[in-house]
Amino acid sequence: MGAAYRTITEDEHAAVAALILHVGFGGTPPPEEYLRVAPPEQFRVLDDAGELLSALRVSRLAQWWLGRAVPSAQVLHFASPPQHRGQGHGSRLLAELLAELREAGVPTATLRPSNFPFYRAAGFEAAGAWSLYEARCEHLPKRLAPFRARQVPIDDLAEPRALYQRIAPTRHGAFARDDLSWRWIARRARDRSALCLVLDGPGALQVAPPDEPAGWVVVAFEFQRDAPVPTNHLQVLDWGCMPGADAALLALLAGYSSMGGVLRWSGPDPDPALFALPDLHTRLVNRFHWMLRVVDLRAAFTARPYPAGVAGRVVLEVDDPVCPWNTGTWRLEVAGGGAGVERLAGGAAGVERVAGGGRGGALRTGARGLAPLFTGFTDPADLVRAGLLAPPGPDSLEFLRAAFASPRPWTAELY
Ligand SMILES: CC(C)(COP(=O)(O)OP(=O)(O)OC[C@H]1O[C@@H](n2cnc3c(N)ncnc32)[C@H](O)[C@@H]1OP(=O)(O)O)[C@@H](O)C(=O)NCCC(=O)NCCS
Repeated sequence: MGAAYRTITEDEHAAVAALILHVGFGGTPPPEEYLRVAPPEQFRVLDDAGELLSALRVSRLAQWWLGRAVPSAQVLHFASPPQHRGQGHGSRLLAELLAELREAGVPTATLRPSNFPFYRAAGFEAAGAWSLYEARCEHLPKRLAPFRARQVPIDDLAEPRALYQRIAPTRHGAFARDDLSWRWIARRARDRSALCLVLDGPGALQVAPPDEPAGWVVVAFEFQRDAPVPTNHLQVLDWGCMPGADAALLALLAGYSSMGGVLRWSGPDPDPALFALPDLHTRLVNRFHWMLRVVDLRAAFTARPYPAGVAGRVVLEVDDPVCPWNTGTWRLEVAGGGAGVERLAGGAAGVERVAGGGRGGALRTGARGLAPLFTGFTDPADLVRAGLLAPPGPDSLEFLRAAFASPRPWTAELY
């Protein structure tokens, strides 16, 4: 009997967690805490007669795409024991997970990669970015009025949580957070010197109902002992606000300038916060990419919305050896803010005139081309340049550009 893909039992929880923690993922808590925030049902393993060959941890948060939440999965941690690496076990485990997700009606999966080649081989591709910015506190806006601020305990993030639910649909790619997501933020805050500030909006401004907060920030303070001049990193662990409150949220932290305060945060590029900053002194200090996998082409492309005014269609000729149910010729038709996806039994040959494609024209692509197209991460012409999309004509690119136009995909969580 060969290796088997399966879930794990409570009895195995500690051993599987140990295998994963052994790798030393950044930000993972001590083992006993990890067992609390990573329940057994999140793990999948490949084992051979009791010997663990590979293990991963997956969560199932939906993601907001243009204001609609679509089921998704996040591969959070992945490890094969050193003695079993390079023998195909990780690839098999990932392929089995994708099949499980498809069965469960989860059309996409995302992850933060440690390397591109392993995940590209499974059909993942870069589909969004975290941009890390920093600004010295003396360069932040100074005016809090007419807003007011107050502190709330790190262990009671109910108000930020309620506000996040209103804001997340406006963030392209944001997770529909659950209890565990908020526990994770609280834990990261508890581990350090951190506080949570809530911004109350004046009713007259109508940025939020008078009795509800207009913004929040969970910020951790890291004094840099070795810096040549006093430097205090203010690391934003989580934040958000209603439209019109960005400058006030930043102003909340301006007072740390006297302590050598440097505010650091992750955002999309461009980050809407930049429009609230008064001068040029904000630096982009780093950028990481997250990857997405279209698990089920038809389910994914019909589930997400499209700009309401766009209408047209293209034929996609897809080759997807890891998820063979996606392989084939598909017509993607966009109209009225939605899409229909239909498999063409006869293949691309003989297809009637399609938008931009000309007679019988089809765009050839694979899972790696579909991922950044789905999120709107990059211009379709860049996918052509990268060899991930082969277009029959310029009109089809114009249509794809319009159909997949969106805010820059981003998630607040650097997972
Ligand atoms: C990444 C990992 C889970 C892959 O598991 P595995 O059982 O070795 O996977 P497979 O044998 O199926 O696939 C290995 C393939 O991935 C590639 N690969 C794995 N790690 C890689 C890396 N860091 N850089 C480049 N390629 C890598 C291998 O070169 C190999 O490709 P090949 O088949 O063309 O030779 C394993 O190497 C591991 O545990 N690494 C340390 C922890 C880690 O990085 N986890 C991922 C966090 S996102």
